[in-house]
Amino acid sequence: MFSELEPRPADPILGLTVKFKADSNPQKIDLGAGIYKDDQGNTPVLECVKAAEQLRVDRETSKTYINSAGSPLFNEKITDLMLGEHRVIADNRIRTISTPGGTGALRIAGEFIRTCKPGATIWVSNPTWANHQGVFAAAGLTVKTYPYYDYDNKCLDFDGMLAALRQVSADDAVLIHACCHNPSGMDLDPQQWQQIAELAAEVGFLPVVDMAYQGFGEGLDEDARGLRLLADTVDEMIICGSCSKNFGLYRERIGACSIIGKSAEAADIIYSVLLPTVRVNYSMPPAHGAAIVETILDSPELTARWHAELKDMRDRIGGMRQLLVDKLVEKGVTRDFSFITRQKGMFSFLGIDPEQVQRLQEESSIYIVGSSRISLAAIAPNNVDYLAESIARVL
Ligand code: LMR
Repeated sequence: MFSELEPRPADPILGLTVKFKADSNPQKIDLGAGIYKDDQGNTPVLECVKAAEQLRVDRETSKTYINSAGSPLFNEKITDLMLGEHRVIADNRIRTISTPGGTGALRIAGEFIRTCKPGATIWVSNPTWANHQGVFAAAGLTVKTYPYYDYDNKCLDFDGMLAALRQVSADDAVLIHACCHNPSGMDLDPQQWQQIAELAAEVGFLPVVDMAYQGFGEGLDEDARGLRLLADTVDEMIICGSCSKNFGLYRERIGACSIIGKSAEAADIIYSVLLPTVRVNYSMPPAHGAAIVETILDSPELTARWHAELKDMRDRIGGMRQLLVDKLVEKGVTRDFSFITRQKGMFSFLGIDPEQVQRLQEESSIYIVGSSRISLAAIAPNNVDYLAESIARVL
């Protein structure tokens, strides 16, 4: 059975972490995976999470099964967080389930789309998160790309995006990043969201919004502005959320898949299809991460603590964007990197070529995804000089 197997290359993002861990250079820097680090290079458990976990330990009375949808309180709270006081909630047109991380939400969304339209196509931005194509292909969808990032001018190719999405079929799905576009850091502005929403309504394609970084761009509500606008405009839509980054719950694997239907009755049918989709995949989601998030969001005091900790993370990354650009100038780099300060979230492309990326790894133990995507969240005052000097050298 196994003798026909061919070895596969390591994951372009997770494989870097393995290499980084094995590197003994004390100056090494991991700008690969999107993981928040503080000024000391640690990824601490948030204080609000610690407090919620303690409450959970004190209050939990059973480890019995919940169900395929996960905890109802988590599902309610995360829906409110993503959509605010939106009329799709008041109209009872949305159904949310907890999922194993944002990736689990995407996979369930993919399988749900395949159930609706076997052989459906999903369009993803070029570029997009390295795992999107694999997740949707594994769910049985055909994956195609639409233009998004203008590599030459380091900005959005919005005209290209609009032109491509005008051509998609009403039976297709279109994946859009809610905020903090991974990997480019280039987000749609409110006017552009409006245009995309109108186009979705006109063409009839299904928007699938991936919101993995709510709160890392401008703020919790600001980062959800675009998807709320879409929900104002279209009848049907899918939202895939993640609590990995904004609650720092990476390994707990907690996310959410929300589906909006045309009516409350349609939403009930959607839900009845979602549950067996989960059942045949992993039966039901893990409970611990959901319990932490619902405990925080159900407590005004813990929510306030979380808001403050999230703001600290967001502000620190914003500060590192500016610091890196300043340091590159200080080290004599003449190429303009100021675009980094105009982008949002954890990532930007440096815009260097694959050989330069390789040299950074081999000569300086600086780990960057092959596309030249860097995670700004791993830059700190104590490594930025070394990083800027190393980049200057390969340039
Ligand atoms: C990333 O893009 O680095 C993160 O979303 C982590 C991952 O799972 O790839």
